[in-house]
Amino acid sequence: MIGQVSKAFFHLLAGSQLLKQLASRYGMRSPGSFARRFIAGETIEEAIEAARAIEAAGMAHTLDHLGESVATMAEAEGAARAYLGLVDKIVAAGIERNISLKLTQLGLTIDRATSVDNLRRILDAAAAHEFFVRIDMEDSPFTSVTLDVFETMWQQGYRNVGTVLQSYLRRSMDDARRLNALGARVRLVKGAYKEPRAVAYQKKAEVDAVFIEIMQVLLTEGAYPAIATHDPAMIDATRRFASARQIPPERYEFQMLYGIRRDLQAQLTASGYRMRVYVPFGREWFPYFMRRLGERPANIGFVIRGIIGER
Ligand code: FDA
Repeated sequence: MIGQVSKAFFHLLAGSQLLKQLASRYGMRSPGSFARRFIAGETIEEAIEAARAIEAAGMAHTLDHLGESVATMAEAEGAARAYLGLVDKIVAAGIERNISLKLTQLGLTIDRATSVDNLRRILDAAAAHEFFVRIDMEDSPFTSVTLDVFETMWQQGYRNVGTVLQSYLRRSMDDARRLNALGARVRLVKGAYKEPRAVAYQKKAEVDAVFIEIMQVLLTEGAYPAIATHDPAMIDATRRFASARQIPPERYEFQMLYGIRRDLQAQLTASGYRMRVYVPFGREWFPYFMRRLGERPANIGFVIRGIIGER
């Protein structure tokens, strides 16, 4: 319940232009600025530097050029070009080839056909260089269309692509079975948006219970699933289930967000588990940053200290 209230509160704040301006001014301007805890930087070069450090620590990564819900075709085209540029820079840097993106960033809310064309351009460039591309899952008005676009790409023969399911959505177990039947790679998360009761479980206990059920179905029937959570209870449940079913650690991976539970990331890696870190970067970091605050209101103290320290 508290989680829902804080999500709603931060969702409201995320719409504030004043806050956005303040955050943009203070959040990223020096290496010690508060937003840098969760965002690797505003440039590709900074993201690549973060990715190299993650690789050096024995972990994998996926790079996400932040942006969502663009309002014009020109912005959607800009986002597509930015991703094509990212593919080239990652190849040139010689780091692991794995990216994450959002369909609303490619123009889904303006024109579905254009966003699909943009996605196809990125998937083609990515396939030519053996990248894996993850289509992130956004809020529930986009669930069906995201899965439809994903399945269309799959039917057209793209195999370098996977998507995300959120355990707070009542529909996700059905979706998990459908994606498993295709042989598609799924990232399982709890879900980061404020959703209505009609479509989503509201209590943490329910979201957690469904997370465990879907994790089990993905581990037994799925294709190299990603269990993406910082919750030690979810991680323990996954480890126990995999070990009881003799599912080796190479058959799945854990994923966590940049800057969150770095201790646990290192600990799991040292214990022989695969760990991928989601590395967000770019100038459009404000909505992503606000979702991270909404998940853990204690982070706000850290931000306030950061702003006071910056001035
Ligand atoms: P939970 O919220 O219960 O937190 C468990 C513990 O983790 C907390 O007690 C705390 O210790 C730590 N923690 C969690 N969030 C924190 C924060 N912001 N700051 C500091 N500590 C924190 N969502 C979505 O809707 N669509 C998507 O595509 C993705 N993609 C994605 C990729 C990856 C790699 C991850 C790890 C997560 C996502 N998410 C996502 C976000 C996800 O839905 C969820 O909101 C967050 O992971 C937080 O949920 P937890 O599973 O960590 O559990």
